[in-house]
Amino acid sequence: MKILMVCLGNICRSPIAEGILDKMAGEKGLNWTIESAGTSGFHNGEKPDSRSIEVADRHGIDISKQRSRKFMQEDFKVFDLILVMDAQNYQNVKALSSNPKDTEKVNLILNYTFPNQNRGVPDPYYEGGFDYVFELLQEACDKVLKSLTNLD
Ligand code: 4NP
Repeated sequence: MKILMVCLGNICRSPIAEGILDKMAGEKGLNWTIESAGTSGFHNGEKPDSRSIEVADRHGIDISKQRSRKFMQEDFKVFDLILVMDAQNYQNVKALSSNPKDTEKVNLILNYTFPNQNRGVPDPYYEGGFDYVFELLQEACDKVLKSLTNLD
């Protein structure tokens, strides 16, 4: 299974989501590929935000080696599932899809926790709330893992 986490800058939310699901899948012995990208490219090549690195580190997850990159149309070919953080990301990713099969790969990550509610993970870049974002993503990643496996 190849899963891509997507947010706007790929420095705050999606790096945390990548780190959490990569660790959870590894602990279950699953040979999955988990990556992340941003729709903007504003922070290309940068490390995750120091506040994301810090909250992940407090939970035993090292995301400091990740580097921001922009979402590309080719990602639809590579990944089985594209999990976006909010409605704006959803629109931006969907706009790059060229067929219904690609579009079907895209979902809001919080729909795994709150089915069909189309909730967004709040953007913590200006407002803060990195602990809350971590909690939301941890719960969602747990549901993602369970929905794609029969493991407990
Ligand atoms: P992210 O947060 O999408 O969770 O990585 C943001 C990071 C940077 C900006 C916006 C959101 N920015 O405007 O630079």
